[in-house]
Amino acid sequence: MEIEITHIDLQDKELRYQEMLKTIKAVVEGETDRIANLANITAIIKSYFDFFWIGFYLVKDDELVLGPFQGTMACTRIKYGKGVCGTAWENKETILVANVDQFPGHIACSSQSKSEIVVPVMENDNVTMVLDIDSDQYNTFDEIDKKYLEQIFTSLL
Ligand code: SME
Repeated sequence: MEIEITHIDLQDKELRYQEMLKTIKAVVEGETDRIANLANITAIIKSYFDFFWIGFYLVKDDELVLGPFQGTMACTRIKYGKGVCGTAWENKETILVANVDQFPGHIACSSQSKSEIVVPVMENDNVTMVLDIDSDQYNTFDEIDKKYLEQIFTSLL
């Protein structure tokens, strides 16, 4: 499998996301294994956007359990309603956090994390996992990030 990543000159964030989605589609459509696909999705996001931490937490036994990720070691389990990830799971909605210090109950896996976005993944009206992306800068994520990161799951999985 040879997949070319054409992102080098993409200054425009939307264009970069559009190319990223094409690459994800090309990589996951020939593979049915969920973990393999999630692992590649984290690597592909990392190759287009050099965010500090990119990973999945999977709903297992009423907790979020750490799944495939790119970045430093992280908390392994997060309870329903706790932190940004557990709150996105509870609310069934993407959460953008401009400054993690101002999010009540934020779980600091790394002090380098300054802002984040958490996208819950819905299957049959249940959240089965969340995509958590952390930045080492404040105010990194906006509605454009939300729009395209949500599309990974509405159109591809
Ligand atoms: N910041 C997250 C915890 C996970 S780590 O950042 C990887 C949260 O508060 O849910």
